[in-house]
Amino acid sequence: MKHKNKHFVIAIDGPAGAGKSTVAKMVAEKLGFLYVDTGAMYRALTFKALKQKLDLKNKKELIDMAKKSTIELLQVKGSYKVFLDGQDVTEEIRTEEISKNSHFVACIPEIRELLWNIQRSYREHNDIVMEGRDIGTIVFPDAQLKIFLDASIEERTKRRHSQLKQQGIDIDIETLRQEIIKRDEKDRKRDIAPLKKHPNAIVIDTTNMTIEEEVTLIIDLYKKIAKESSL
Ligand code: DC
Repeated sequence: MKHKNKHFVIAIDGPAGAGKSTVAKMVAEKLGFLYVDTGAMYRALTFKALKQKLDLKNKKELIDMAKKSTIELLQVKGSYKVFLDGQDVTEEIRTEEISKNSHFVACIPEIRELLWNIQRSYREHNDIVMEGRDIGTIVFPDAQLKIFLDASIEERTKRRHSQLKQQGIDIDIETLRQEIIKRDEKDRKRDIAPLKKHPNAIVIDTTNMTIEEEVTLIIDLYKKIAKESSL
């Protein structure tokens, strides 16, 4: 469905561990929209750089690598897959090593430009739910619905801790908390596309909410906007 001649975009931004992925996927499934996880793109390039043992401080090397890479986000038999140069890297990009090192590629303007082009192309043929850090502010400042999903640092640490535990990784909770704080700082303080709330974004503090409550709230907001724009 097009609204004002543009496909509908639900932009979901927020810090690490705010629960963006789970909620964004569920909203996309309920509405029949395409789900796009932009963090996976920064992770995929970081994965490749680490694999090729590139110097993460050498911007030129990273830009050259990014220009030669293809990243595809696909839905295969109901699950979301990340392909890098034709290879499925969905699982490999979720490690703590990649979480810790993604900021190197994420702060390079030339790499962000490349990824922004791919991200914007998804709207050409689809209504989308896109999650990241700069979706409402930079990728789609004209997104019809902008959400800023947040939660307390304690809650975000707890969620990430249990996610890692499910993957068989047991990390000290205080160490994890400090890492999340550091990552947040890097996202918020970088020069290019820092994490920040768009003035028109609706803030949802998920600290004391269930996933179902979050999904229902976002879908209700969508329905209201869709109804108003069809009047
Ligand atoms: O959401 P995530 O943890 O999968 O993100 C991985 C990294 O990519 C993290 O360093 C933040 C960065 N990122 C970004 O800079 N811009 C986005 N739109 C999405 C993620």
